[in-house]
Formats: sequence, C-alpha cells, structure tokens
Amino acid sequence: MNKHLNLVPFVSVDHMMKLVHAIGVETFLVELAEFIEEDFRRWPYFDKTPRVASHSAEGVIELMPTSDGVLYGFKYVNGHPKNTRDGKQTVTAFGVLCDVATGYPLLLTEMTLLTALRTAATSAMAARVLAPAGARRMALIGNGAQAEFQALAFRAMLGIDQLNLYDIDAAASRKVQRNVAGLGFDITICATAQEAVLGAQIVTTATADKQNATILTDNMVGSGIHINGVGGDCPGKTELHADILRRSSIFVEYPPQTRIEGEIQQLPADHPVTELWEVLAGTSPGRESESQITLFDSVGFAIEDFSALRYVRGRLAEFPMFEQLDLLADPDEPRDLFGMLLRASPLTA
Ligand SMILES: NC(=O)c1ccc[n+]([C@@H]2O[C@H](COP(=O)([O-])OP(=O)(O)OC[C@H]3O[C@@H](n4cnc5c(N)ncnc54)[C@H](O)[C@@H]3O)[C@@H](O)[C@H]2O)c1
Repeated sequence: MNKHLNLVPFVSVDHMMKLVHAIGVETFLVELAEFIEEDFRRWPYFDKTPRVASHSAEGVIELMPTSDGVLYGFKYVNGHPKNTRDGKQTVTAFGVLCDVATGYPLLLTEMTLLTALRTAATSAMAARVLAPAGARRMALIGNGAQAEFQALAFRAMLGIDQLNLYDIDAAASRKVQRNVAGLGFDITICATAQEAVLGAQIVTTATADKQNATILTDNMVGSGIHINGVGGDCPGKTELHADILRRSSIFVEYPPQTRIEGEIQQLPADHPVTELWEVLAGTSPGRESESQITLFDSVGFAIEDFSALRYVRGRLAEFPMFEQLDLLADPDEPRDLFGMLLRASPLTA
C-alpha cells in the first residue's frame, strides 16, 4: 500500500528546465514527437472534444481534456497577445495527468515550456510527412516565445539549418538570432514577411494578434512550399489570406476544433481537409507532388498535451526532477474526512 496517497509529483518551471537540459533540448523534442506520433496513430481510442474556451476582450482561457481510457489528461492554457507589453507571457499553461481507474492525479506540471516544446514537436512531426523533400530553409515569421522551439524541432527532425526571420519588432528577431547563435543555423533577418518567404521551402507563422491578420498574402506563396500555421488558433484570430487556403491541401488536428479556431474558419464548413493522424497512420496520403502547397493548420489539440504529460512522467523515473505536493486529502479512514479536519484543529493540539 502506498503510504503517501496525499502526495502528487509536481514539476515546477525550474524542474522542467533542469529536465530539458538533462535530456538535451533536441533529444527532448525528438522523443516527445515519438510519443505524440504514437498517440496520433491510435487516435480513435481517445475521447475527443473541442477545447472549452472562455473568451474575453483581451484573450482566451481554455481547458483541454482527453483520455485513452487508462490515463486522463487536461491542460489549462491562456492566450493573451497584449500580455507581453506588461512583461507577461502570451501563453501560459499547466496540466495534470490522472489514473482513470481511481481518478487520482499522477502528475501536476508546468506546461508553458512544455506547450512550446509540444507545439514545435507536433509542427515538425507534421512537416516530416508534408514538407517538400530536402527542405533546408525555413521562414520563421513571428519571433516570440515559440520561435526558437520551432527552429530547433525543425532542425532536429528535418535538418532545417537555414532560417529567414521576420517580426514586426526587429528586437524579437535579434533575440532569436542571439539565442540560437552557436547552434549551427545560417540566419537572415528580413525586413518584411515577403522577403522572409523568398527561397524558403517551409514557412512557419507564429505571430500573436487578436484579429484576422494577413501575415501571408496569396502572391507570396509559391508552389511546392509547406506552411506551418501556428498562430491562427482562435475565432477571429488568423494569419493567412483565404486565397492561400483555397490553393492548399489542408491538414488539421481535430476538425470540430479547427473549424472553429483554425485558418479554415475563413472557409465554408464543408471545405475538404485531411486529418493529420490519418496520414501518420498510413490511411491518407501526405504530400503527393512537388508542386502541391501543403498547410498544417495547427491550433493545438489535447492529445498533444496528453502525450507530453505521458512523456514527462516517464522521463521522471530516470531524471527525478520533481517535488512531492501535498495535494490530496488522505484521512486514515477514507470516509472520515471531517475527522481529519477536526484532528488538525489548533484547539485539539
Ligand atoms: N498551434 C498551437 O498549438 C499553438 C501553441 C502555442 C502558441 N500558439 C500561438 O502561436 C502564436 C505565437 O505565440 P508566442 O507564445 O510565440 O507569442 P509571443 O507574443 O511571444 O510572440 C508573437 C510574436 O509575433 C510578432 N508579431 C505580431 N504580429 C506580427 C505580424 N503581423 N508580423 C510579424 N510578426 C508579428 C510579435 O511582435 C511577437 O514577437 C500565438 O498566436 C499563440 O496563440 C499556437
């Protein structure tokens, strides 16, 4: 019998950083992508629902649950594009993994870093089946919190070693350049999005703006490229001109959620899309020709967070980067919850 049923492993931001360094950022991304791919291949076994979103004028707060019948996971995440002006993150998150048989939490962890890692791992996993063969140069438009993670995942998993950076705030591009200096990238900081797209086989858009923005217009998108659209992930928050969508083969995570939140909210509800899990499971084709424009209309789905929670929990066995949190009430006799409270009274001490 576990004598410490009250305790739940908790991974703080500090411990997550130590865990990532102990494993190595690129190894972490590659291993995490393997877990995500494994879960995408068994997609039909999961409970799925569009995330539960609470919108406000400044942003959104979302809950993202899923279960495979053995484990249950959920993530709390927000998206507030104006936060960075006050020194706050646009996206913050934490999550929980639980045992379905008892309902007991098995892990509580920070997920701000983990979201950036899982988003990048998912993007690169999709690009592996969608990007043109031999791609070396990626345009990275929007150089905020997600940017370096995207760059590293694409290098580790696809061999991307040339980056064209563009951000409306040039300081953000210089930050990326500084952070990945010495990691072997050939970097060009560009003055416009159009310049960034030139010569790139992959275009990643990861901007944050609470509106229908047009980061890419139709004339900027040549045949044969792969677009990894990360920043359009909320109703009324998109990055691509609708004409690009009409020319692209569109791949999505979970259509009922992406039709609300993704770039395809701009298209009729019956516009054809392919579910990414089917490509990974081998039941739908990925890229089929050199001239095809492929778009991964990423919004972020609960199964990616579930895989990330599962991965982190597994790695803690080798790298014990966690503390125990006194999270669950554990009376000596399960029904004597009040008795436990009573015995803790300062008056009975
Ligand atoms: N799809 C997913 O799974 C997923 C996961 C995490 C974050 N996101 C989304 O990705 C986006 C980026 O997240 P972040 O944490 O890096 O945000 P961030 O605020 O740290 O960075 C966003 C960057 O975009 C830049 N930007 C804004 N408008 C621009 C424009 N018109 N052209 C070029 N650059 C522009 C900003 O200057 C900033 O540097 C957000 O919209 C977020 O909601 C999606």
